[in-house]
Amino acid sequence: MKKSILLIIFSLFLACKSAPPTISENISAPEVGLITENAMVVSARAEASQIASDIMKQGGNAFDAMVATEMALAVSYPFAGSLGGGGFMVYRKANGDIGSLDFREKAPLAASKDMYLDESGNAISEKSQLGSLAIGVPGTVAGIFSVHEKLGSLPIETILAPVIALAKKGYVVSEGQAKSFNSHQGLFGQVNKTSILYTKSFKTGDTVKNLALAKTLQKLADNGRSEYYGGKTGEILVDFIQDNGGIITLEDLKSYETVWRKPITFNYKNLRVISMAPPSSGGVALAQILKTVEKFPLQEFGHNSLKTIQVITEAERRAYADRSYYLGDPDFYDVPVEKLTSDSYLDVRMENFSFDRATPSNSLKHGAIPGYESLETTHYSIVDQFGNAIAVTSTLNGAYGSKLYVEELGFFLNNEMDDFSAKPGVPNMFGLIGAEANSIAPEKRMLSSMTPTIVEKDGKFWMSVGTPGGATIITSVLQTILNVSEFGMNMQEAVNAPRFHHQWLPDEIRFEPNSFDKEMLQTLEEKGYNINEKDSPILGKVDAILKLPNGNLEGGADRRGDDTAIGF
Ligand code: DON
Repeated sequence: MKKSILLIIFSLFLACKSAPPTISENISAPEVGLITENAMVVSARAEASQIASDIMKQGGNAFDAMVATEMALAVSYPFAGSLGGGGFMVYRKANGDIGSLDFREKAPLAASKDMYLDESGNAISEKSQLGSLAIGVPGTVAGIFSVHEKLGSLPIETILAPVIALAKKGYVVSEGQAKSFNSHQGLFGQVNKTSILYTKSFKTGDTVKNLALAKTLQKLADNGRSEYYGGKTGEILVDFIQDNGGIITLEDLKSYETVWRKPITFNYKNLRVISMAPPSSGGVALAQILKTVEKFPLQEFGHNSLKTIQVITEAERRAYADRSYYLGDPDFYDVPVEKLTSDSYLDVRMENFSFDRATPSNSLKHGAIPGYESLETTHYSIVDQFGNAIAVTSTLNGAYGSKLYVEELGFFLNNEMDDFSAKPGVPNMFGLIGAEANSIAPEKRMLSSMTPTIVEKDGKFWMSVGTPGGATIITSVLQTILNVSEFGMNMQEAVNAPRFHHQWLPDEIRFEPNSFDKEMLQTLEEKGYNINEKDSPILGKVDAILKLPNGNLEGGADRRGDDTAIGF
């Protein structure tokens, strides 16, 4: 038993460390992104960007393209795309209307606060990370139908047809994917009772056809949302989960609802930022950090300079300390959003900041934890030819989620339950800790860091941006916005630029390796900052679109992955 737990921990460690190239190996990334006149999709896979761009060329809008992208990623990017996950969409319509959709997973009705604790009250992280008990009630399928119903324009059959064709014809495995599939074989075998579509050794260029998923998608096209939330597909799913020891019931699926939420909005100089509200911490933390750093002349300090890094780090440290305590599902817990993002509160938070010395994290809150981040979420940005813009981040949480794969339906199931705080002060897989605000309760949504964001400049659409990266999502989005607004980079340069991250605990600054000035890092150390250049080969995988002054769109597709911009 002990051995298998060790094996799981080691495999999770390997999964997270597995091999995306370092940013310095990625210098072949282009310096200017794709430029188009009308419309663009930037996503984690060329197949998804292509299908969604074609949908818009056929006359579809960004919301139709959202449905196509989300489903095409479920086919071609099983690492994070799936019919078994959840996410958030932020949008800005051409007429300036804004909104957001919460299709985050929920805790099952039978979930309980202490479900991941052993008899001695210790948290057993494998239980919330691997296999059937880790699964939150999926929201993705409800999400695409909510978007389609309210904002879509083409028939769902038309949107899903090319996705179904892709699942039948197959997608071509990239080098990164082959490595990733192969490095997860052990966990796939351990979690699943039988072999699955992904139980074999892969090489670059292999074709993966997913006929089971094609069939499931066809049923969704024919029968709509209820096919999954209570219909035949739902029954198969629930039987499968229960057969594997899980607690999700048909009742859970039937009672799942998406929520249209008011986004977080705030100003940063002449920009208006529109981002995701709780149950994501993304918008609140982004507001806290940007509003704090706004008071400093970052441009004068310079990009990735000592002072810029100090200011951003100290703002991040304080925001993440607040995140761990105050943030959770607003349907269950009163999150003090106004207070946390008010200028007066933020000023007080920075009162003890000094350029001379780091503020130790344990002087803000207690705790010492391990932590790491990885990229098992996916973000895409879309702008259509009508001027609608969307930013969507969706996830299975860990790589391939719980690793449990529904062979009959063709997709992996999430392990989103690990985003709850299993026990106050005990870190989750991203090293994040939480408190009562994010404790487990039936039907509650687990706190997220996903930060799909749209930025307006002078009242007009300017940028759509987001990324995977667990706890590092917020800080990667932040730096991408600043890279353009403060440091004058174009969209692709802003995405390419090396990134750093601080999340209060552990009390360290993560840097992408070999990409920052050594002397500056040494000065930071002398000032009391802990430097970690080895544990994050890459930070984030940002996909963004910028509206240029002449009205064209520039894509920023992150070459840290297979991400691709396509448009017309
Ligand atoms: O919602 C969240 O914050 C996490 N489930 C996101 C996970 C993620 O980004 C994994 N990839 N890095």
